[in-house]
Amino acid sequence: MSAPITVALLGGGTVGSSVANLLISNGSEFAARIGREVVLTGVAVRDTSKTREGIAESLITSDAQALAASGADIVIELIGGIEPAKSLIETAIANGSSVITANKALIAAHGAHLHALAEAKGVDLYYEAAVAGAIPLLKPLRESLAGDKVRRLLGIVNGTTNFILSKMTDEGADYSEVLAQAQALGYAEADPTADVEGYDAAAKAAILASLAFHTNVTSDDVYREGMSQVTADDVEAAKSLGYVIKLLAIAEITDDETGVIVRVHPAMVPETHPLASVRDAYNAVFVEAKAAGQMMFYGRGAGGDPTASSVLGDVITAARNRVAGNVGPTHSTYANLKIHGIGDAVTSYYLNLRVADESGVLAAISNEFAKHGVSIEAVRQDGEANDARLIIRTHSATDAKLRNTVEALRGMSAVREVLGVMRVEGGAV
Ligand code: NAP
Ligand code: HSE
Repeated sequence: MSAPITVALLGGGTVGSSVANLLISNGSEFAARIGREVVLTGVAVRDTSKTREGIAESLITSDAQALAASGADIVIELIGGIEPAKSLIETAIANGSSVITANKALIAAHGAHLHALAEAKGVDLYYEAAVAGAIPLLKPLRESLAGDKVRRLLGIVNGTTNFILSKMTDEGADYSEVLAQAQALGYAEADPTADVEGYDAAAKAAILASLAFHTNVTSDDVYREGMSQVTADDVEAAKSLGYVIKLLAIAEITDDETGVIVRVHPAMVPETHPLASVRDAYNAVFVEAKAAGQMMFYGRGAGGDPTASSVLGDVITAARNRVAGNVGPTHSTYANLKIHGIGDAVTSYYLNLRVADESGVLAAISNEFAKHGVSIEAVRQDGEANDARLIIRTHSATDAKLRNTVEALRGMSAVREVLGVMRVEGGAV
């Protein structure tokens, strides 16, 4: 065998420690698969005094900059966040290393810039682990579906929030207690606000949309609502109507194929929909392509070993490319699509209203829907002391029309309180 493939690892936390351990324990198999031995040259961490199980002390360093600049064949970035990760990746590329990262925040914000650097230098840049943990999803979008036209992606891409919502739905568990469990299991980001406020899912949605639609979408282009406002009452109300609440990432190309709408928000999904049974930290993404039809990618979305599996898949790909003396397929952004706002998204709403129980109220309410061009699909009325409770489900309309309708309802004296408003998704799958 010729000279080994050298791998430098930046970050030895939840994912980094799994990557290091699997790289060390599977070394001989990796050598057989690549045709060259793979050698871990160092692991950069913040605190060198912590015990790192399975990793020789001699490999541990606090000098991430020097390791990034060492000219290793492959540099794996598993520190997270924008800086110093971005500068370290720039350094690694400048020194001729191929780069593997799981850092969705960085790729969603600076992916175009890093891709340009990698292309100019003739090195690979891969980030399969950045979206949906263990699930092979970016490679299928970049390569397997390159001959098709993707129309829509609909998925659960954040393990922490899915874990929390599953426990709230199945066990009536308390939000903060479940978040602590997700953190202890290594699912949550360093700042869990990124998970619960939807920033993590928005970054992943941007990456998915970029690859699926051959255009540049950044996290700033994604409409985002987190799940911190979802209450136990909302979960119960959804359940009583035959729905579960999920934090969804949705990316769609417009009918004329000139634009894209990307959004992340909680939504009610029918219990019968396959996404409804995606529980705990599992992720699942539906992909709808013109020729292929519908596909679902499902698996573990977070955690050390599952994420390490994706990182190591990229390592093998980049190592094989090195051995062959070339670079692999990269992203393409030729489509240059217009980014549309949430107002143009077509969806349907569930509304929970407390209204005056008087004659003419129902007619006045349905008149507001009609005035704003929104058609009602179903209404349920229950008596409630002197008032009435109305549960309304609309047909699909643009989000802008639905929002205007809700605003108008809030201004009606007969509407005592708008108790809940949520988008309903998954009807068409
Ligand atoms: P983590 O457990 O917080 O680990 C971060 C590692 O980076 C730690 O080893 C830390 O050192 C090290 N570090 C931080 N700042 C550093 C610096 N300035 N110089 C050198 N080392 C530094 O994070 P993680 O959960 O493994 O996540 C890593 C990346 O993977 C993130 O981009 C995350 O979004 C992504 N990701 C995570 C998961 C998951 O399930 N956890 C799944 C998919 C993707 P110390 O150990 O000394 O603190
Ligand atoms: N915090 C992320 C999640 C890790 O919960 O999905 C995986 O990207």
